[in-house]
Amino acid sequence: MSEKKEVLHVGIDLGTSRSSISASNGQRHVVESYVGWPLDMVARKVLKKPVLVGREALDNRSMLDLHRPLEQGLIKDGSEKDEAAVRELLWHLLSLVGVDREAKNGVKVRAVVGVPAEALRVNKQQVRKALQDAVDSLMIVSEPFAVAYGLEELLHTMIIDIGAGTTDICVMNGRLPTEEDQRTLTQAGDFVDDQLMRLTRERYPDARFSIHMVRNWKEEGSFVGTTKAPVVVTAPVNGKPTQLDITREMQQACESILPSLTESMLDLLSRVQPEYQERVRNHVVLSGGTGLIRGLGQRLEQELQAVGGGKVKVVKDPIFVGSDGGLAIATDAPDNDWERLSG
Ligand SMILES: Nc1ncnc2c1ncn2[C@@H]1O[C@H](COP(=O)(O)OP(=O)(O)OP(=O)(O)O)[C@@H](O)[C@H]1O
Ligand SMILES: [Mg+2]
Repeated sequence: MSEKKEVLHVGIDLGTSRSSISASNGQRHVVESYVGWPLDMVARKVLKKPVLVGREALDNRSMLDLHRPLEQGLIKDGSEKDEAAVRELLWHLLSLVGVDREAKNGVKVRAVVGVPAEALRVNKQQVRKALQDAVDSLMIVSEPFAVAYGLEELLHTMIIDIGAGTTDICVMNGRLPTEEDQRTLTQAGDFVDDQLMRLTRERYPDARFSIHMVRNWKEEGSFVGTTKAPVVVTAPVNGKPTQLDITREMQQACESILPSLTESMLDLLSRVQPEYQERVRNHVVLSGGTGLIRGLGQRLEQELQAVGGGKVKVVKDPIFVGSDGGLAIATDAPDNDWERLSG
């Protein structure tokens, strides 16, 4: 019935700002979630490529029709270009782990893809469409569940994954999480960037800077609570490089995600069966790039004081946790848990 093709398992974390892939052949890669097409014939001649993906696309953005196709964890709706961009991004990831787009070199690809928890229903169709020609079997899971699986934090734990587009919170009860166990908030890294941009502009109206610069400043100097060293950055004012103190703005921007984050964390905790609440409070895992904001883990522990105290563990190297988790799920999943797409 079926010829014996080699099976390649992959876990894919399709992120707003970065996407990563982990494959059963040992390959792991991360790319920035940008895709761009040369704007005109000159750009095409300079770039010598029909489409650019990742850092290469970002670095050449002046010559490109540049897309960041995943906004707030969803494939931007209604835009064919964004759908095409997601397809390019996925193919790029697969090619990085050795899947040949032309030949598909006799490999059967089984992919687990993580998407934001609450977007699961809407998003499934979009992801399916984007992956149609690329993979044989597909499983779409919630992002924080993939993270929990990768860290083997499956029983009475809470995962908080704060990325660029979304914050995903999930309580693990030793079984597949249901909708009631999860929350998605749209305040995450991009939201902090917007706040920092706005606040800095208000304080230094004559300074010139881009959102990319603001993001770099944040990744260098982010903090909540207090900091020993002031945050000072450089940007041109009337063409002259000038030092700007943005300590206060940085704190305010980073703390802007706290109210909704704290509220959702405490709300989800209050819904845990009473006998397990203390155990969950003491096993909170903070993951994602925005989880790296200095002092954030400690601050959440302070918030947990209100309900009896708890412990927050920060994942220091969050880049591959989601895709490694996806790969672990792919490897463990029995045959009938998969959705067949082609082949
Ligand atoms: N040290 C840092 N301090 C604060 N923010 C950081 C730091 N390092 C990275 N970030 C931010 O983390 C975000 C990227 O994190 P991550 O890769 O987890 O997101 P993503 O998976 O692309 O997004 P999503 O999961 O929302 O789709 C960006 O907003 C980035 O600016
Ligand atoms: Mg993510």
